[in-house]
This record gives sequence, structure tokens and C-alpha cells, in this order.
Amino acid sequence: MDEASIDTGWATGLGGGARRHTAAGAAAAQGSAHARKGQAMAINEEKLNAFMGRFVQDLGAVMHAATVVVGDELGLYKALAEKPMSADALAEKTGTDARYLREWLSAQAASGYVDYDPAADCFSLNEEQAFALAQEASPAFIPGAFQIAVAQFKAIPKMLDIFRNGRGLGWHEHDPALFRGTERFFRPGYAAHLVPEWIPALEGMEARLQAGASVADVGCGHGASTLIMAQAYPASRFHGFDYHEPSIRYAREAAQRAGVADRVSFDVATAKDFDGGAYDLVAVFDCLHDMGDPAGAAAHVWQALRPDGAWMIVEPFANDRLEDNLTPIGRVFYSASTFICTPASRSQEVGLCLGAQAGEARMRAVVEGGGFTRFRRAAETPFNLIYEARP
Ligand SMILES: C[S@@+](CC[C@H](N)C(=O)[O-])C[C@H]1O[C@@H](n2cnc3c(N)ncnc32)[C@H](O)[C@@H]1O
Repeated sequence: MDEASIDTGWATGLGGGARRHTAAGAAAAQGSAHARKGQAMAINEEKLNAFMGRFVQDLGAVMHAATVVVGDELGLYKALAEKPMSADALAEKTGTDARYLREWLSAQAASGYVDYDPAADCFSLNEEQAFALAQEASPAFIPGAFQIAVAQFKAIPKMLDIFRNGRGLGWHEHDPALFRGTERFFRPGYAAHLVPEWIPALEGMEARLQAGASVADVGCGHGASTLIMAQAYPASRFHGFDYHEPSIRYAREAAQRAGVADRVSFDVATAKDFDGGAYDLVAVFDCLHDMGDPAGAAAHVWQALRPDGAWMIVEPFANDRLEDNLTPIGRVFYSASTFICTPASRSQEVGLCLGAQAGEARMRAVVEGGGFTRFRRAAETPFNLIYEARP
């Protein structure tokens, strides 16, 4: 076995099979400080190549993410959805630079986000691409997710600090791209599932909302879920609460635009001090795990509900065990949780740090800790778990 050196892998075209590679060789080849002296490492070339192939996919995705944000903000996808166009035509239509557009379109074609017709030198969005990239109201609209990624990158300097000092980082301390991106990414899922599936999954709740009920949406952010419910149940009244003042301001304006401001209110409050009370339904969408004291929040929700009321808890989909969350969706959630959810919880009192992949067993413990006697999984999608808790 040659322990002195190894070609560093995929780029130089290793043959098949495993090679043995000394720590000194690894350190020299890769500048790594982690190799342990004198210890042999078995490098399986097939596994290395597979890993590097995955890396190329990942790097492409990361670089592509920035181009999606630019395309979304400049209205490029929406313009291209209208008809197939050359780069020059799209540039003219959107008031952008033709050379930059050609490069952007080429990048989109390489990522499968637009189609390219070489014969006509034209670019287009097929039905599915348009549905996901150009139709803001579609249940598959995805550009908001990339805005969240922008906020994560902007948070890197703060992350370096908090990883070292263990402090929290509040939701409000992130770049505003997070607030708008979250709303735009989550709204399509709520629009698709909340009224047709999640509310009917709660015992007797649909009929109560149709007849006229009082609802609190706690940690409502920009109020996407609040407004969807308000539009579906015109006889009911809705109260959105969030501790983040800029989000509440945005939500109030959105309620005006939606024409429901006469029966929808938005106020700055935390999950432990929001008022009103004797609610038929309290809902929390993707925020209980972000709170420092979710059991304290549960206790306050318990007090704010009518005895026959329900608490709907919408959380990211998660299994109880880490090893069962090592999936493509779990990957997204764990990354977001590292940068956003866990530091947000740490920044508040108690700082429980449930994380976005808490799972049903931990959620049950938190909810029962707040005084609720009944807790069940009422519905689920690949992205969300919906629990119903009763006093
Ligand atoms: C991931 S966002 C979800 C926003 C909204 N529910 C949605 O689904 O679009 C989490 C929200 O929880 C809010 N939040 C975090 N801790 C809170 C607390 N203790 N009380 C009230 N709101 C809180 C944040 O300000 C943020 O708007």
C-alpha cells in the first residue's frame, strides 16, 4: 500500500477501489490541519466521487439561489411566463441589460428553471416552471424560499459570534429578507391546505368558523394565515399577534388591501401576553418552536381559550428521532433551525431551543406542560405537522 500520497480525488480521475492515504499525505495534499499523525485513512474512490458529485449539485444550487432572487425581484420569471423570448426581447420588456440577461437565462437553463430552444435561440417557461416561479398565488410558488436563504447568508457574521458566545439571535435581528421571504414561502402552503384540510381536521371547528367564531393567530408574522382564514370565514373575527412590530405593521396594511380590516385586527404582543380571550380557536403557525418559553405560551393559550375551544399548532414536519429526519426536507429545516429558529428561542426568556425538528413527542410534552389534557396529530403534509390540543 502506498501510504505516501494519493491523488486528491475526483478531479484527477482516480481509478476504482479504495486506496490508503496517510494523515501526513492528506494534510499535505489538502492543507488540512485535522489529519492525525501516522493514522492511515482508507479513501474509497467511488464514495469520494459520489460525494464530490453531490458537492457540485450543492454548489450549483447555492450559486443559482442568488440568480433566482434577482430574477424574482426584477420580474424576469413573470415576464418570461407570458411567451417565449430571446434574451434581447426579455431585456427590452423588463428594462434590463441584454448581455446580463443572456447570462442569467443561460444560468436558468442550466439549472432547469427555464427551457432553451437552440434553433430559435429562445427561452421560455414551461407550465410547471411558470406555476412555481411566476405565479405568486400558486400552491407551488418558491421564490420566497430563496429570500430566506439570502437572510441566512447575511446572518453569517452574527452566527460566528453567537456560536462562540452562546447568546441568542432574535427573529427581529435578521435581515428583512427573512420576514418577506417567510411570508411568500409559507403562504402557498397555507393557501393550499389550511381551509380545505387543516381546519376541517379539527373537531367541529369548520362549522364554528362558518357560524361566526373568535380566532387568535399568535406569532402571525405578516399575517398570511390570518388573512386566508378571514377570507374563508366571513362571519368570524380574527386577531393576529406577533412581538415583531414591523411584521404587525405589514399585516395591518395587508388586511386593508384584502378588504377584511373591519373584522381582522393585528397587534404587537407576545405569546405569553396577548389579550382578548375566550377564543374559539387559537392558532400558531410555524412559530411555537421559535419561542423561548413554549410551555409558558401554552399556559397562556390555555387561559385564553374557551373551555370547548381548540389550539391548532402548525409545525415543520419532523420525526422524533434525529436519524429519521436526515431527509432532503429535514436538511432544509435543520439548516434554517441552526440559523433562525434555535437562536430565536435562545434570545427569549427560558430559551428552551426546541429547534425546527422537535418532533411530536417533545411538542406533546410542551403542550401538556401548559395544562392541555388532549393532544393529537390532526393532519400532515410533507412540510408540516398539524396538532390539535384541547383544554
Ligand atoms: C417562522 S415565523 C412564522 C410567521 C407566521 N406565523 C407564518 O407562518 O408566516 C415565526 C414568527 O414567530 C414570531 N415570534 C417568535 N417568538 C414569539 C413570541 N414569543 N411571541 C410572539 N411571536 C413570536 C416571530 O416574530 C415570527 O413572526
